[in-house]
Amino acid sequence: MNAFAPNPLRQGLVEDRLPEPCTVVIFGASGDLTKRKLVPALYSLMAERLLPPSFAVVGYARKEVSDVAFRGEMKEWCGKHARHKQTEELWSQFEKGIYFHTGDYDTPEDYQALKGRLDQIDKERGIPGNRVFYVSTPPSTFPIVVKQLSDNGLINKTGTGPFTRVIIEKPFGTDLQSARDLNAHCLKHLAEDQIYRIDHYLGKETVQNLMVFRFANAFFEPLWNNRYVDHVQITGAEALGIEGRGGYFDHAGILRDMVQNHLFQVMALTAMEPPVSLNATDLRDEKVKVLKALRPIPEGRFDEFVVRGQYRAGSVAGRPIPSYQEEVGVTAGSTTETYVALKMFIDNWRWAGVPFYLRSAKAMPKKVTEVALVFKDAPHRLFGEKSSNEPNVLAIRIQPDEGISMRFGSKVPGNTLDINPVNMEFRYGTSFGTEPPEAYERLQLDCMLGDQALYTRADEVEASWKYISRIHDEWKRSFARGIPTYEAGSWGPDESDAMLRRSNQAWRRL
Ligand code: BG6
Repeated sequence: MNAFAPNPLRQGLVEDRLPEPCTVVIFGASGDLTKRKLVPALYSLMAERLLPPSFAVVGYARKEVSDVAFRGEMKEWCGKHARHKQTEELWSQFEKGIYFHTGDYDTPEDYQALKGRLDQIDKERGIPGNRVFYVSTPPSTFPIVVKQLSDNGLINKTGTGPFTRVIIEKPFGTDLQSARDLNAHCLKHLAEDQIYRIDHYLGKETVQNLMVFRFANAFFEPLWNNRYVDHVQITGAEALGIEGRGGYFDHAGILRDMVQNHLFQVMALTAMEPPVSLNATDLRDEKVKVLKALRPIPEGRFDEFVVRGQYRAGSVAGRPIPSYQEEVGVTAGSTTETYVALKMFIDNWRWAGVPFYLRSAKAMPKKVTEVALVFKDAPHRLFGEKSSNEPNVLAIRIQPDEGISMRFGSKVPGNTLDINPVNMEFRYGTSFGTEPPEAYERLQLDCMLGDQALYTRADEVEASWKYISRIHDEWKRSFARGIPTYEAGSWGPDESDAMLRRSNQAWRRL
């Protein structure tokens, strides 16, 4: 038998990518993310037999909770949110490895106690000391947790023996300087290959499929450049308003919340050159090149490249939405943006002269995330006036209704020559008939496996902040001008349409 052929006895039983036995410690375990996403994702991984046989998850937070109570709480949340149905058999297997540890984020004794507890769990469950620390606490405590882990001997810095990996939730910094400081701080206590900066968009199937679509097919890549593409539109729209997150959002704004991370990652994957391989270094090198090639917004021409807005009262699908100013936690007179649209240029060989338009907003008519390549006209209008005025579009729908569609002109059936746009569609649901995994499943699994390809690197994060921080600086300077508004449930302020109109372009109707 070929030594590299899969063992037929293992097929269907276990996946090839099985992590070593390990414990995941979640700091901030009483938060929403733990209940809705992190633990349900771990449960689904177990249901798919992707967790190692010896595995534990330890919730860490300030409140007093017993193991039993935490297990009960997680059972309920996994029942509601895990992709895999809960069965008594699977649950009883999973819950044996769930623990809770009460502790403060800045108290060395609490980390010492955690260390003792983890050693004990290792013994009980046959885990050789491998640990993933998931830091999902308020951002101001990220540096504190990393330092305490390091000071209290919870990080193996030797490069051999059991692994220690640290996942840092978003936001990674609030501007260029704070991102640099956080990187420097983390790199004082950890090696770069131990730091996992998470961006959950990279865990989405459809975002990963951007690479498969581009580089596993021969059709599209030859067209994927400035010879054929007129412009690119990337939309991250959400129907919800702030929904009780005013305290956080009013300090962040949509540019920090969605664009610096999620939309920039999608843009980088759309625009990057084919990487030499899919390993973390090669892939991230290509993304960084895109971010470094972003043309700085020209001095004095800011309004041509950036539009922001804030929603007023309105309604989405018949549901009334109060104005942003009335949301709990929003400061009176706030100029925080809930809508932003950017016109960007990537100054490199492939994309010279092609605008990339990015928009992201709350309180839009619907939730939709997509990338659309809008193509140039055919070189010669053979059909003259009969030709459709609509350009060819290739749209990659990231969510919901995940899929890819191509829009092109077709002859209208009949004895005359009329041309109308039509769509050719691929839908994940109908083609594969299965639900895609949750982003946090893939990302936590990759971390356990030591694969950083879908996590962001220090230079990548800094390159994106460099662009974003300039916009914030300009907004600070022009604070007195206030902020345009748009009605909740509309597609944003008129200024945004005008930005595209100036180049004879228009936002897609979604
Ligand atoms: C988060 C933002 O990172 O992403 C939220 O903080 C936003 O404001 C969310 O709603 C969107 O994620 P998804 O996966 O629902 O598109």
